[in-house]
Amino acid sequence: MAQYSRVSGSVGLITLQNPPVNALSAAVRQGIVDTVKRALGDPEVKAVVIRGQNGVFCGGADIKEFGTNMSGPHLVPMIHAIEAANKPVVAAIEGIALGGGLELALGCHYRVAHSKARLGLPEVTLGLLPAAGGTQRLPRLIGVPAALDLITKGRHITAAEALQLGVVDQVTGHGTVDAAVKFALSVAGKPLDARRISTYPCPRTSDLDALFEGVMQKVRQSARGAIAPIACVQAVRAAATLPYLQGMEREKELMATLFTSGQARALQYGFFAQRAVGRWSTPSGARWDTSKPRPVHIAAVIGLGTMGRGIAVALAQAGLSVVAVETQEKQLMEAKQAVSGMLERGAKRRGVAPALDKVSYSHDIKAVADADLVIEAVFEDMALKRTVFRQLSAVCKPGTVLCTNTSGLDVEHLASQTRNPQLVVGMHFFAPAHVMKLLEVVYGPQSSPQAVVTAMQLGKKMGKVSVAVGNCRGFVGNRMLKPYLEQAFFLLEEGATPELVDRALEEFGFPMGVFKMSDLSGLDVGWRVRKADGLAEPVGASGQPARIRQGQRYSPLGDLLCEQGRFGQKTGRGWYQYDKSGGQVASSDPWLHSFLEGYRAMHGLVARRIDLQEVLERCLYALINEGFRVLEDGIVAGPEDIDIIYVFGYGWPRHRGGPMFYASMVGLERVLERLEQHHKAHPDVPHLQPCSLLRRLVSSGSPPVHRWREVLKKLNSQL
Ligand code: COA
Ligand code: ADP
Repeated sequence: MAQYSRVSGSVGLITLQNPPVNALSAAVRQGIVDTVKRALGDPEVKAVVIRGQNGVFCGGADIKEFGTNMSGPHLVPMIHAIEAANKPVVAAIEGIALGGGLELALGCHYRVAHSKARLGLPEVTLGLLPAAGGTQRLPRLIGVPAALDLITKGRHITAAEALQLGVVDQVTGHGTVDAAVKFALSVAGKPLDARRISTYPCPRTSDLDALFEGVMQKVRQSARGAIAPIACVQAVRAAATLPYLQGMEREKELMATLFTSGQARALQYGFFAQRAVGRWSTPSGARWDTSKPRPVHIAAVIGLGTMGRGIAVALAQAGLSVVAVETQEKQLMEAKQAVSGMLERGAKRRGVAPALDKVSYSHDIKAVADADLVIEAVFEDMALKRTVFRQLSAVCKPGTVLCTNTSGLDVEHLASQTRNPQLVVGMHFFAPAHVMKLLEVVYGPQSSPQAVVTAMQLGKKMGKVSVAVGNCRGFVGNRMLKPYLEQAFFLLEEGATPELVDRALEEFGFPMGVFKMSDLSGLDVGWRVRKADGLAEPVGASGQPARIRQGQRYSPLGDLLCEQGRFGQKTGRGWYQYDKSGGQVASSDPWLHSFLEGYRAMHGLVARRIDLQEVLERCLYALINEGFRVLEDGIVAGPEDIDIIYVFGYGWPRHRGGPMFYASMVGLERVLERLEQHHKAHPDVPHLQPCSLLRRLVSSGSPPVHRWREVLKKLNSQL
């Protein structure tokens, strides 16, 4: 809806009304058309101001309308009518002007913004382009390079940057609407010809072809298969090379391809999934909105390795006082320097003062006595963690929430070491913890809703995307990664190379294939875990066949590389070779290829031709199958949780939604059929055996992913 009133005698004030972000739903568009007509037809009105209610100008097109039968007036003619008006129209931008909201403002003759407002054309992040003239007006207003930067990245800018670029005409720190009304009165009656952006020529840029070629190359590289950024470049090129109306035609054509694409569906699903994970629930009935978080002013971190340092930085940047404890004197000194450096660099980037005085350091665990919440980040060793939790339980004040940053150990077991097991949860950060967005908040059967809500809330404060997950080996992300890695090893045994496997995964859209990723994070990490699990024994020891462990197929390839001291980038050798220890550019290693040949010969394996499709199916479907098991076990409440974990923590390409969304797009019948085939070919690999939930979903008619929660509930109640 839009409300109309007259202010200061001769200014028509139009207020968009569609909480919470005044998205341009059919009703709002209709409201704008009607109220603009009314203002222009009112002889008393000399100028018009458009604003949004509750201090929010407009969050753009109503994403909920996409995929429905859209009715109501179209945005393009609506904005044209505003631009063509014979009375000045001023946008009063408070809060946000995003997407269609900014396009609406660009159709106005003037723009006045509050200093705290954020503006942008984020459509590309939803698999679209700004198709209400955004790709044609913005380059005409601020030039091609700046417009390309904003449109292809979907970046939000501050009012100050908008003023500097020329997107807005005035910035105010006070009442935006009053300033806009005053502005409107000052321009009433002045000629408007020079204010209609669509009539501007696009500012000339030298060597346009080279500019677009360069940008296109960069965009293709960073898009990793996403089509929207490329269409955005093409649309801006139309603005730079075609008259306005032809440019608008091109914008429309390009949008038509994007609008119905699977990528747009995936990205829009991702938008809502990210919001759905905030409304978490646990099988015991705890919910995001039924408990109040405990206040956390002082947080402590125990252990200042890579993870502990990153967590301390993220906590200090979120404004908390941090007590950082490290037992090794040398490590403590190094950590102090490293944390200060990270805080300084971060503050410089954000243009604020570094929060150095927020962090205090100690080598004594008693220093955490006053902390409201403690995050343990010592070595990944259960015995050590147990001791630390017993100490914490003795040292901390009653009511302190105790968290472990384990990447997969049993949270419940740690809770049992403390006096208040209900106050123990996992906070599984991803390295580097001050950069990576994902946080798995792990609750055990005894964790209280308040402990979960406190950790979730703290994660939010730290700028993380927090997902509540149940307690199981590896939690969600690492649990699903195991069968994926396992398939990659098996493929090598059967004839693939690390290069082939990585190529398949990178072409799918992962920033790095599994072997490059393993070289980056260090092969020794998994080796240590496998040794602790009794898997990575020297070949032939204890009389076991070399490729079978605990009754299942097992590939010792990773262990064999570690035995050779090939830990990946850090040693200059792993699945690839690097120019030096710590080098980052992977190149194919002839040693590795002959090692694989020798390994196959030793085990009587005959290499066969493996294609990219098989790599994808074996790796991804095994991971997806485990995702169904995670759902079946009630470790997460819905597929959105898994998808958000994979997109934000494991490099799953955003434009493919996440593993569970992808499975839904491929078709559950097909995933089931292919898993059955692969399991038949490899009966000794339990991870390829289709999960019963997948079978049940297929029997229930393969509902689309947004209906799985509901179907899961029904299926569970039938058990
Ligand atoms: N259309 C429909 N609903 C929208 C919306 C839009 N353009 N923008 C936000 N919403 C909804 C969200 O789904 C959420 O609904 P919920 O409470 O039912 O989950 C609610 O508005 C609040 O949004 P949220 O993201 O939780 O609030 P925020 O304050 O953190 O962020 C925005 C606000 C506007 C910055 C953010 O929602 C956003 O980026 N929206 C998309 C803007 C966009 O891309 N517009 C172009 C569309 S083509
Ligand atoms: P990462 O964070 O990369 O997993 P490490 O596991 O190497 O790195 O870091 C763990 C850190 O925890 C080390 O610096 C170690 O000295 C420290 N640490 C180990 N035990 C304790 C303890 N009881 N109290 C505090 N710090 C500890």
